[in-house]
Amino acid sequence: TAKPIGIVDGIDMGLTGEVRRVDIEGVRLRLDDGDLVLVSPLGYSPTGEIFNLTLEEVATQVAVRLSAHKLIFLMETEGVRNGRRQLLTELSTREAEALLARHAKLPPDVLLYLPCALRACDNGVKRAHLISRHRDGALLLELFTRDGVGTMVAAAPLAHLRSATIDDVGGILSIIEPLEAEGVLVRRSRERLEMEIERFVVAEHDGAIVGCAALYAFPEERAGELAALAVTPDFRRGGHGEALLHEIEQRAKKLKLARLFVLTTRTSGWFLERGFVESDPSRLPAQKRDLYNWQRRSLVYEKKLI
Ligand SMILES: CC(C)(COP(=O)(O)OP(=O)(O)OC[C@H]1O[C@@H](n2cnc3c(N)ncnc32)[C@H](O)[C@@H]1OP(=O)(O)O)[C@@H](O)C(=O)NCCC(=O)NCCS
Repeated sequence: TAKPIGIVDGIDMGLTGEVRRVDIEGVRLRLDDGDLVLVSPLGYSPTGEIFNLTLEEVATQVAVRLSAHKLIFLMETEGVRNGRRQLLTELSTREAEALLARHAKLPPDVLLYLPCALRACDNGVKRAHLISRHRDGALLLELFTRDGVGTMVAAAPLAHLRSATIDDVGGILSIIEPLEAEGVLVRRSRERLEMEIERFVVAEHDGAIVGCAALYAFPEERAGELAALAVTPDFRRGGHGEALLHEIEQRAKKLKLARLFVLTTRTSGWFLERGFVESDPSRLPAQKRDLYNWQRRSLVYEKKLI
């Protein structure tokens, strides 16, 4: 049902209305039967008047009241672009708000749909997508490719770090196995990974694991080893590596470890740029020193934490 907007800024909006109530039970029943529900942008008032509603408001309200997983707007442009005209494939609600406040010159359809996407995500819809209605297959490409073809707005930050659980073993292996095969990382069996899973931190992006790192602590020597730091190739250069390193350093500090070391054959530059200095196998904690693989000739780097 609808209610009149009334008089706004001295203008009588006449028969233009806004959503009053959505028969969500009715919608759910039809959906449960496998039907497709088309909702018209016409709403009736309890007294029988017919109001014209905007389609974006109807779609937003229905999505919110359904607690939908996704709200998708098909629009004239490809998605939301930043000041440098780059397409933004993902936006958090915070970023979307900032963008709307900063850029008065956004295209009209972005000005129309982005606030609705924001409202939907602020009210329980998990994702809102803004995609081009002119692009062939846009809907499938947006939903079934990793980067999509338009802009996705999400309430929670899309990437976050957390401790790994046993359910993450498969995801971690898919990242580290190719690197083990290339000789970039030392080989770990699934069994060993399962046993040591609580030492791992994972970077998760939109539900998928895109990076990992592990901390091996040697408390008696107040040292820790950063191991198995890896980010899946599609997600490199997005700061995930740095965030994982930071998290491992924080965990090491909490354990009162004074230094963090890392063994690497090919990533020296990355660590040197992040405060590590060249070290020596003799400085490794005894247990690790005994296991040091002289054939692999890994370089040892360490960073002072405290
Ligand atoms: C090293 C690694 C984890 C970095 O992940 P990331 O998410 O891309 O890291 P960040 O986004 O924080 O940093 C990216 C920066 O590091 C640079 N970088 C990446 N690999 C590098 C290397 N081997 N040496 C020097 N710099 C490197 C990138 O060029 C980028 O800098 P730029 O944007 O200025 O060009 C990732 O490249 C990886 O998984 N590598 C393979 C596994 C590995 O070598 N692990 C370390 C051994 S324990």
